[in-house]
Amino acid sequence: AQAVGLVGWRGMVGSVLMQRMRDENDFSLIEPVFFSTSNAGGKAPAWAEGAGPLQDAHDIESLKKLPIILTAQGGDYTTAVYGKLREAGWQGIWIDAASTLRMADDAIIVLDPVNRSVIDAALSRGVKNFVGGNCTVSCMLMGLAGLFHQDLVEWMTSMTYQAASGGGAQHMRELLTQFGQINAEVRGLLDDPASAILEIDRGVLALQQGGQLPAEHFGVPLAGNLIPWIDKDLGNGVSREEWKAGVETNKILGRGDAFGTPATPIDGLCVRIGAMRCHSQALTIKLKRDVPLDEIEDILRQGTSWAKVIPNTREASMRDLTPVAVTGTLDIPVGRLRKLEMGPSYLSAFTVGDQLLWGAAEPLRRMLRIALG
Ligand code: HSE
Repeated sequence: AQAVGLVGWRGMVGSVLMQRMRDENDFSLIEPVFFSTSNAGGKAPAWAEGAGPLQDAHDIESLKKLPIILTAQGGDYTTAVYGKLREAGWQGIWIDAASTLRMADDAIIVLDPVNRSVIDAALSRGVKNFVGGNCTVSCMLMGLAGLFHQDLVEWMTSMTYQAASGGGAQHMRELLTQFGQINAEVRGLLDDPASAILEIDRGVLALQQGGQLPAEHFGVPLAGNLIPWIDKDLGNGVSREEWKAGVETNKILGRGDAFGTPATPIDGLCVRIGAMRCHSQALTIKLKRDVPLDEIEDILRQGTSWAKVIPNTREASMRDLTPVAVTGTLDIPVGRLRKLEMGPSYLSAFTVGDQLLWGAAEPLRRMLRIALG
């Protein structure tokens, strides 16, 4: 078994990753070496039988011994450690969840059910850096791969409904605390069927606007609200999350200047909503030609084994096309498929994906298996 260094295995993405690796028996293929940024010398997790004590995640000499390192520790860690490790002559494979190295020329964005050929070509020319994509992008591509593989997309807009987990564990806690405090504020009135709804509404709004709700992580209350901006302001009216949709999708698919092919324009607005851990997206797709809907459904089903076409009915959409229905599964439902009023080559779609599974952990553990050969 090959030794693999694991960093950031205790955080939210890391915990989901460890669980998936255990479920899929990945640990039978590797000799895990667990690193820690805060508890070097401590015990490896109890379920990892035979693993040695935790190593210092900032100790380049310890890291250098590993042929493969997989990190979900976050971007600051990558920034602090990655360069030093390469400067020290390390030639191993770096598998990373953070966005730090994603757009570097010597890094591949991994989503193997969609871009296995890009990954294989990179491995054979000696590429050593493999980075998981932005969660929204990965979940979208897992649903829509068929259309891209058939080269049917002229352009696409993606309007997102992104869950609290995209910000991190503390953001999820903050959202739930806000919900709880809002409920507590008006509970007496809610319990009284004769109370006036506008009085309840005034009470909620007063709390949301009053500055007492915890909002350290989101900046403003998210409960009973939404935030139409995610990540940094790039200074040109575009958020960093919106920028990623176009550049990462094209890089994953091996399109754009770097590949000598035209990039597919993909753009839209990214919005934070009060869901827990599934990102949803409403898509407008300009097809290169008028493809009948039943053919589109077949193409989507063939795209990846996880894409699930949901009939465009009220009942199926409410039951199967929601964050609550999808959370904890690897399914990527794609529904609300219909031709828009603008014409027969304008397709609408709505898709949902667990931001911690296909959006973060799953592409990394699959890349580890590919790297192990
Ligand atoms: N940037 C994403 C979000 C998280 O904030 O939802 C993962 O890429």
